[in-house]
Amino acid sequence: MARLLRAAAWGLFPRRGYCSGGTQGELSKGFVEALKAVVGAPHVSTAAAVREQHGHDESLHRCWPPEAVVWPQDVDQVSRLAALCYGQGVPIIPFGTGTGVEGGVCAVQGGVCMNLTHMDRIVTLNPEDFSVVVEPGVTWRALNTYLRDRGLWFPVDPGADASLCGMAATGASGTNAVRYGTMRDNVLNLEVVLPDGRLLHTAGRGRHFRKSAAGYNLTGLFVGSEGTLGLITAATLRLHPVPEATLVGTCAFPSVHAAVGSTVHLLQAAVPVARIEFLDDVMMDACNRHSKLNCCVAPTLFLEFHGSQQALAEQLQRAEEICRDHGASHFSWAREAEARSRLWAARHNAWYATLALRPGCKGYSTDVCVPISRLPEILVQTKEDLKASGLTGTIVGHVGDGNFHCILLADPEDTQELRRVEAFAEQLGRRALALHGTCTGEHGIGLGKRLLLQEEVGPVGVETMRQLKATLDPRGLMNPGKVL
Ligand code: LAC
Ligand code: ZN
Repeated sequence: MARLLRAAAWGLFPRRGYCSGGTQGELSKGFVEALKAVVGAPHVSTAAAVREQHGHDESLHRCWPPEAVVWPQDVDQVSRLAALCYGQGVPIIPFGTGTGVEGGVCAVQGGVCMNLTHMDRIVTLNPEDFSVVVEPGVTWRALNTYLRDRGLWFPVDPGADASLCGMAATGASGTNAVRYGTMRDNVLNLEVVLPDGRLLHTAGRGRHFRKSAAGYNLTGLFVGSEGTLGLITAATLRLHPVPEATLVGTCAFPSVHAAVGSTVHLLQAAVPVARIEFLDDVMMDACNRHSKLNCCVAPTLFLEFHGSQQALAEQLQRAEEICRDHGASHFSWAREAEARSRLWAARHNAWYATLALRPGCKGYSTDVCVPISRLPEILVQTKEDLKASGLTGTIVGHVGDGNFHCILLADPEDTQELRRVEAFAEQLGRRALALHGTCTGEHGIGLGKRLLLQEEVGPVGVETMRQLKATLDPRGLMNPGKVL
């Protein structure tokens, strides 16, 4: 109970409507003029509508507007802005596409929001080394469009068209992680503006090697730091060759247990799936409506295989055998690019398809990740709990990683419903911890999971994180109130 009260005191979810309207106070006129002197007057705003737009992400977390929004045009300006804010004790909140789902951009202590989307160049492509350097405004879809005719691609693909540096900041993943890894595996180097304005290259300036044993892993420290240690102003990313052939299948199952059991079996049999995504019956129904699909309304797997034509034929046969052993029916395979992208577009829009089930509601997504052997039990139990809860929600998951989401809906004006969503999410987080898992596979800690983080890593873990934070951000001004 004490824990719940503490969480409530932080205002995870809105109490008085969606947007608070208020801020922590106002920046002095002189300070706003100083911001304008760095970036130019058109690139600073204190308008209420703009601040409000930058005070929330796509989730249920309430709106906390910053006191000003600035749009730096280059790294030098970011550096000067950071030094200015830091010197004056003003909080700094980095902002990309605003598509996060854990309240990471909420300006809980006011301050200056740095919208980095004007810095949107693809700086260097090293095709022979399979790497690219991008600025913060480049999204994963924009990068893949740029790479399309070069035989290369970038695999990390969260639902929204998020910015790559924002994805680095949150440790994002998506549907390809089972084969290609998450941002943690695909970031080679980061350019970071530290809170006091100094510039850090986490792996050394200009370096883009595949492996290294040189000192502490500073790149790894900043991936998933959620804007609490510095501002990411460029990311060097690992690219992958486009596979010779790709095959996508959908496969309906008689139960959640059968679908997830097949997943575990496929992985244990080392079938090299590139993607394996689970959608429950409610999710399938929502996708059918929202994305005009015509799939069975049943627990379903979306599978994708990459390789040579011959390898695909073998993988397909093996996958069909395993799924049929678990009672699967209704296989449907898509080879053509158009049919494949229709299915993946529907999957990427799962969040929006869920929101469309109850217009006017906001969404909150749980994000637990457990060892693969524990996935069937937690998913089956969660499905039962969700039915029993009376909440509206879908289940969708990157099951090949042991990671799944319950996307829960609530009327932002209905405090009771909000509390029930919060309690459901907390209980599920604890269940994952009890199974040796994590409370967040890909969305991050943000505002709402700080207590779960403490339970997950323990007091010494949290203390070590606090010490690192204090070293890099001694005044506690980088995206305050998040993670710790
Ligand atoms: C997804 C988001 C919610 O997987 O992470 O669709
Ligand atoms: Zn996801």
